[in-house]
Amino acid sequence: MSAKNQELQSATTKVLIVYYSYSGNTGKVAHEIHRIAGGDLVGIDPVEPYPGNYNAVVEQAKRELLTGYKPKIRVSVKNITSYDTVFVGSPNWWHTIAPPVITFLSESDMSGKTIIPFITHGGGGLGRSAEDIVALCPHANVLKSLSVYGADVKAAQQWMAANWPIQQ
Ligand SMILES: Cc1cc2nc3c(=O)[nH]c(=O)nc-3n(C[C@H](O)[C@H](O)[C@H](O)COP(=O)(O)O)c2cc1C
Repeated sequence: MSAKNQELQSATTKVLIVYYSYSGNTGKVAHEIHRIAGGDLVGIDPVEPYPGNYNAVVEQAKRELLTGYKPKIRVSVKNITSYDTVFVGSPNWWHTIAPPVITFLSESDMSGKTIIPFITHGGGGLGRSAEDIVALCPHANVLKSLSVYGADVKAAQQWMAANWPIQQ
């Protein structure tokens, strides 16, 4: 894409970067994406924070994912309809996206939007995250996901350099 087209795309495309991060890795990647792509950066906060104890959060997450529980969240996206492109970030929790992100996608109308998932993980890669996002957003155009081990910001930079702006 030429520099001029790139300018045009950034002028006409409204970008949202929305993410949940329990221990900070997904947040770091989200900030890096924001630095490169611009747009609005918004964190998802569970109303009831997850326990600080690792084993406790692992057990709670397992229970929530097995039962399909959707925790209540606070998220300050004012007008989701105004965005064309939404980067959706989550840690890989039990091979899928974290329940607060499931709540967000269930409550938001993502029809017609381009979604770019970004997932940080501890070795398991994306797991089922991409498929699960597609299932939650059946009328969105879900593009290839960015998968990052831990908070490897450099890997995120390289991925963005190869994939952003989106080639039309
Ligand atoms: C509840 C829980 C479940 C997890 N399950 C997985 C998993 O199935 N596969 C994996 O690779 N990493 C797993 N992890 C590790 C996280 O995906 C990884 O540390 C991630 O980068 C954390 O992102 P955050 O710092 O934004 O919360 C899990 C972590 C937690 C807390």
